[in-house]
Amino acid sequence: MQLYLDSANLEHINHAASLGIISGVTTNPSLLAKEDPSVDVRDRIKEIYALVGGHLSVEVVSTDADGMLKEADEILSWFPEATIKIPMIPAGLTATRKLADQDIPVNMTLIFSPTQALAANNAGATYVSVFMGRLDDIAHNSVQVIEDTREIWDMQGLNSLILAASIRHPLHIQEAARAGADISTVPYKALMQSLKHPLTDKGLDAFLADYHKMQEEIAKLKA
Ligand code: G3P
Repeated sequence: MQLYLDSANLEHINHAASLGIISGVTTNPSLLAKEDPSVDVRDRIKEIYALVGGHLSVEVVSTDADGMLKEADEILSWFPEATIKIPMIPAGLTATRKLADQDIPVNMTLIFSPTQALAANNAGATYVSVFMGRLDDIAHNSVQVIEDTREIWDMQGLNSLILAASIRHPLHIQEAARAGADISTVPYKALMQSLKHPLTDKGLDAFLADYHKMQEEIAKLKA
């Protein structure tokens, strides 16, 4: 399973990219709104792309197909490798189909069910973003939705990439991978949490303590 960073924060993106474990970045209007409003969105997006290269999803805010397509043209003028992020609404399907017919990659977002994911796939979406955290927030089993979507994909031979989104913690990453997601887009905090384990820290401390103790004993012998 590939990992993307779900962020518009340059410091977090820069650090995550330096670890060599992410293959892209996803943004959305809420993530962009968290950042410095004095920085133009276009400039921030171009900065993010310069940092990571690879996949970068940029979301439209129009709710009509023509508006979405106009925004897509604008985003693609910023960088032609952009993936256009479009909400899973009927107008979004129309826009997705038109963009897919031009071989422009689309990440259909705000997907909460396998039937929505199926529609997004059939509209030509390259990525279908299935939101886990927001499903769990209302006591719906998000892992089951990923599993069901994967089962349908495998049964039907569908090509869109299943992107687990709305990740809240490392267990979502683990369960998304186990359930068959192709990609998981992860907030910086959850990504860093997923790398840590108390036994790793304890073990490293013990290794270093024993090494230094050995060095001290060697030094005494040489004295
Ligand atoms: O960016 C798409 C998705 O990952 C955002 O989910 O629930 O963290 O706002 P959420």
